[in-house]
Amino acid sequence: MHKPVMLDEVIQLLSPPPGGVAVDGTVGAGGHARTLAERLGPTGTLIAIDRDTSMLDLAYQTLRDLPITLHMVHGDYRDLPAILDELGIPQVDTILIDMGVCSDQLDDPERGLAFRYDAPLDMRLDRSQSETAAHLLRRVSVGELARILRDYGGERWANPIAKAIIRRREAGRMNTTGDLVAAVLEAIPRKYQEKRIHPATRTFQAIRIAVNRELDRLQESLQAICGCLRIGGRIVAIAYHSLEDRAVKHAFRELSVRQPVHALATSKMPTATRPVLEVLTPKPLEPSDEEICQNPRARSAKLRAAQRIG
Ligand SMILES: C[S@@+](CC[C@H](N)C(=O)[O-])C[C@H]1O[C@@H](n2cnc3c(N)ncnc32)[C@H](O)[C@@H]1O
Repeated sequence: MHKPVMLDEVIQLLSPPPGGVAVDGTVGAGGHARTLAERLGPTGTLIAIDRDTSMLDLAYQTLRDLPITLHMVHGDYRDLPAILDELGIPQVDTILIDMGVCSDQLDDPERGLAFRYDAPLDMRLDRSQSETAAHLLRRVSVGELARILRDYGGERWANPIAKAIIRRREAGRMNTTGDLVAAVLEAIPRKYQEKRIHPATRTFQAIRIAVNRELDRLQESLQAICGCLRIGGRIVAIAYHSLEDRAVKHAFRELSVRQPVHALATSKMPTATRPVLEVLTPKPLEPSDEEICQNPRARSAKLRAAQRIG
C-alpha cells in the first residue's frame, strides 16, 4: 500500500479550511486525500483526479466512508481548468499535485512498470491511451531513444543501452520487461552495474515518462492550474524528478514576479501585471531521514508550495 509522502508538511502548508474545496490532482491510493477530506469536514468538497482508473477505484475505497462531497474524476490534472468548468466549480481553496507513480502501480505485475516482474511492455498510467511502451520502443530511432534515456532517466549508459534495445528489437526479442532488463544488463559492463539501485531503474523510469508524456506542457499547465485557486488559496506540488521539480520552480517563480503573464492568457487567470503567487518554500522541502528510512520511495521527493495573492 502506498504511503503518502511528507503528509504533515502537505497538510500544514495547504491548511485546508473546514467547509472548503480541495483538489487532489493525483489521488493515487488516497492517502493524502483522506487527511485532506478529514480537515475539510462534512461541508467540504474534494475533487479527486487520477489518470489511472484502478487508482481511482482504490482511492474510492479509502475515501468512501467519509462524510464529504466527493467528485472522482478520471483525467489529467494538467486539464484542471476544464475539469472544474465541467463540474461548475469556479475556484478552489487548495490544490495538491503529487507527481509520478504509486507503489500500488509499481507493485502490480501486469502493468509493466517494474523490472522485478516479467510482464508485457505496457507502462501506461491511463489505459485508454493507445501507445504502450512496446509501441514506443517499436517506433523510436536509436538517437531518440538515447535522448529519452539521458534526459528522463539521467542514464550515463544511454547510447549503449539504446543500441542494445534496438538490436534486440530487430531480432524480435523486445516484447517484455524481462527483455528490457536483459538489454540494459547486456549494455552496461558488469563492473559498472550499480549495486545500490537495480541497473535498469533509470531505463524504466525514462521509458515510463516518455510513454505517459509526463513532462509535456508541465510548466504551462501548472501556471494555468494556479489560476483555479481563489485569492489566499494554496498549491503544493511534490516532484520526484529534477525536470519535474524545475517545471514547478519556474512556474511558481514566473507567477511570483511583477510582469505580464502571457502563458495564462487562455486560462482562467487574466493576463496579470502584478504578482499572482507568493512562493512559500524558497527552497524545496525534502523528506526527513526518518521518513526516507520508513519509506525509501520518498527519497527523491521535492516539495514546493505557493499561495495565490493576486
Ligand atoms: C505518487 S502517486 C500519488 C499518491 C497519493 N498522493 C497518495 O497519497 O496515495 C501519483 C498518482 O498520480 C497519478 N498521475 C500521474 N500523472 C498524472 C496526471 N498527469 N494527471 C492525473 N494523475 C496523474 C498516477 O496514476 C498515480 O496514481
